[in-house]
Amino acid sequence: MIQPQLFEVFIQFEEHASSLYLDLSARFGENLALSWFWIEMAMDEKQHAGLLQFCKEAGTVISVVPTDEQIQHLGGLFKELSAKATKPDLALDEAFDIAIAVESSEINEIFDNLIKNITGPLYVIRKKVELAINHFTKLREAGVRFGVSKSILERLADLEQREDFVRGLVK
Ligand SMILES: [Fe+2]
Repeated sequence: MIQPQLFEVFIQFEEHASSLYLDLSARFGENLALSWFWIEMAMDEKQHAGLLQFCKEAGTVISVVPTDEQIQHLGGLFKELSAKATKPDLALDEAFDIAIAVESSEINEIFDNLIKNITGPLYVIRKKVELAINHFTKLREAGVRFGVSKSILERLADLEQREDFVRGLVK
């Protein structure tokens, strides 16, 4: 696959992640704060898609190329999660479970690799830095706020620590 096509595939994945979060927002529409939280998650994914679009147009060089296997795996995962996210009686824990599946998939690591060589105006670079946050911190804080089960909170705390460690993020 040539590089612009690779960007296109991952733009679609980010869009897919965004629409999953919009499904969750609709499911919990009666709880304004919770519904808005999922919209914010959806907007983050839109920003990822936008940054990839910028890279595609700028001809950003991809140094760590995602494999066909990774792409197939993510395609399968998103299909599976879409079916779950539209279940009308989806429980809060199940919604967080979907978010955990998205955020702990390979998509975030691949995204980081795709934007690694980005160059451009300062606002683009600033956006790149802004996006380098721990994906699980926001989810864990929301989990506490909206009352998910202890087991979900424990998984999130564990994933949060692991991501800090892997990405060398300083708190
Ligand atoms: Fe994303």
